[in-house]
Amino acid sequence: MGCVKIGVVGAGAMGCLFGGWLARAGLEVILLDVWSEHVRILNEKGLELQEGDELLNIPVRATEAPEELGDCGLVLVFVKSYYTREAVEPVAANLRSDAVFLTLQNGMGNAEEIQRLWREDGVLVGTTAHGSTLLGPGRVRHAGRGETLLGPWARTRLETAYWAGDILARGGFSVRVRDDILGVLWEKLLVNVGINALTALTGMRNGQILEDPDAEALLEEAVLEARSVAEALGISLREDILAHVKGVAKRTAQNRSSMLQDLMRGRRTEIDVINGVVVREGRRLGISTPVNATLSRLVHIVQTLQSLPPN
Ligand code: PAF
Repeated sequence: MGCVKIGVVGAGAMGCLFGGWLARAGLEVILLDVWSEHVRILNEKGLELQEGDELLNIPVRATEAPEELGDCGLVLVFVKSYYTREAVEPVAANLRSDAVFLTLQNGMGNAEEIQRLWREDGVLVGTTAHGSTLLGPGRVRHAGRGETLLGPWARTRLETAYWAGDILARGGFSVRVRDDILGVLWEKLLVNVGINALTALTGMRNGQILEDPDAEALLEEAVLEARSVAEALGISLREDILAHVKGVAKRTAQNRSSMLQDLMRGRRTEIDVINGVVVREGRRLGISTPVNATLSRLVHIVQTLQSLPPN
């Protein structure tokens, strides 16, 4: 496809990190978001990206118009999972026919949603262990590094995943292509199952979980329930899944998880496509998941309280 233009749907913390790194490497990138002030600041002042002690300013192009992504060859999807359809539909409707979508969103069901709107051989799915925080319009902090894994969905070819992986690698990302992507998605799900609701409910940063025996015990119980569900589904997970989840919490120690960031902003969380998936699948398979059910309920309660008008 030669020199490909990259679209990023959803310029939140992760969208800005990926778009920013790719733009910094000299690739042509356009960020799509519905937040007007953020889009304006990105265009006028560039992306302010805090990398450790360093503050980078990366010139980027941003838009609120999905049709401006029409000539992109690769479209990265980073919106919250419950916006996937709404965000991808107008992009797909205007997009060149040979383009490929890559979702690196949290939670389950995103690739299926995109697949309903696009060619069967044009969807890639993956996970990333980077942590990132949106500090305000045009401002993001990179809060933890990790690998990005991706692979083909439905009838998409493995070579297409290698092609997209090379593009991300040019942006400086450490990428691995995998042909067993369902297992990868479940492993990431278990990371989010262990970290996100717990940090959202307590206000802890990811690393603090490991400093508190009660929080660490809850992380373990939630992850082990989810592992039982995955095993019953025939998904093969890495042996050291618990150590892996804790490793991600350690590597992203300073990060506020995406679910904590959501609650802090009074936004709906992705609980239903994270711990909620474990509860629903567990119920279907006759596996009890009390910790995930309680975490889900508590997050729902906080969301409901937040949506009430103030006294
Ligand atoms: O959702 C998140 O915040 C991230 O997936 C992760 C890896 C837990 C880091 O904060």
